[in-house]
Amino acid sequence: MQQVKAVIARAKGQPVEVTTINVPDPGPGEALVKVQACGVCHTDLHYREGGINDDFPFLLGHEAAGVVEAVGDDVTSVAPGDFVVLNWRAVCGDCRACDRGEPWYCFATHNATQKMTLEDGTELSPALGIGAFAEKTLVAAGQCTKVDPSARPAAVGLLGCGVMAGIGAAINTGAVTRGKSVAVIGCGGVGVAAVAGSALAGASPVIAVDIDPKKLEAAKKLGATHIVDSSQTDPVAAIQELTGGFGADVVVEAVGRPETWRQAFYARDLAGTVVLVGVPTPDMLVPDIPLIDVFGRGGSLKSSWYGDCLPSRDFPMLVDLYQQGRLDLDAFVTEEIGIDDVEAAFDRMHAGDVLRSVVIL
Ligand code: APR
Ligand code: ZN
Ligand code: ZN
Repeated sequence: MQQVKAVIARAKGQPVEVTTINVPDPGPGEALVKVQACGVCHTDLHYREGGINDDFPFLLGHEAAGVVEAVGDDVTSVAPGDFVVLNWRAVCGDCRACDRGEPWYCFATHNATQKMTLEDGTELSPALGIGAFAEKTLVAAGQCTKVDPSARPAAVGLLGCGVMAGIGAAINTGAVTRGKSVAVIGCGGVGVAAVAGSALAGASPVIAVDIDPKKLEAAKKLGATHIVDSSQTDPVAAIQELTGGFGADVVVEAVGRPETWRQAFYARDLAGTVVLVGVPTPDMLVPDIPLIDVFGRGGSLKSSWYGDCLPSRDFPMLVDLYQQGRLDLDAFVTEEIGIDDVEAAFDRMHAGDVLRSVVIL
């Protein structure tokens, strides 16, 4: 067992705090990771607000890269010294979803079995089964994916959640390929990642839509060929106009609201795909759309769960593309911060001032 500094959410709606936690030595199937960098994501804030569940106290943080310090007896997939990006979907390889080749729907994903605790023994609930706003964290070995050790931790750690969700929404779920027209509605961290993924895949045009001009500038930097400020312009008409009157082959909805999903529905080509990657709240309903409009359009309406990624396939590939200068992960890192600055980083995220703040440990 070791004691390390970590960021926890002790009670619903309370500011997060830095405290000392106990991290057990890795048992069978587990790995102890010395965390180097961990991004601040909306989901961490949702945990703090009690929006995910009530299993306080939470150990926050889940977009992380670090070095494996020790592994349990039976672990062969990673070894001490390996540089890894953590994932929150360590698939079982054995269930119905895994068998049919869709491991992103795996029913039996792995987390560490032993519990990290507060000094008084209270068990912590690690955010998304990770808990990486901590100098060291205990995870399932399958949650560690080895990547190029010379890559910048703050940048590649972001592949562990939001950036992978966005890139994967475009490339994996939307099957964006060279020459397809793509529109991305909502250009926060997830949406601009979908823009970057579409550009990487050779899509054209890549149309970025947002109500915030700052976000549209970021989208341009990451490969958008056109931008649409939907607070000023009807995005459906604008997307149609930019695609020869047809609508986009793929529209990625990265806001998670009924009105933007409706825009996506109408902004796609008749045979186009809508990918919902923004996370709606439980009270939101599918918008009223005449059934005849559904009948009149083919294509598909999809959702994307963690970018339908397979970490062992996608993380090393995307890190290599980053290292080659073909995927600008650095552009997502707005600021590097200390472990004491997470609460303030939530405020900056809320204000829309950052794509990602990344805690350096
Ligand atoms: N039309 C277009 N864009 C919008 C609209 C709208 N009506 N409303 C909000 N947006 C934009 C915001 O300006 C912002 O740029 O959507 C973006 C949302 O980005 P973030 O809040 O940074 O969220 P992000 O991390 O990208 O995640 C997107 O997925 O993980 C979930 O909770 C997360 O629902 C959120 C979504
Ligand atoms: Zn499985
Ligand atoms: Zn996240």
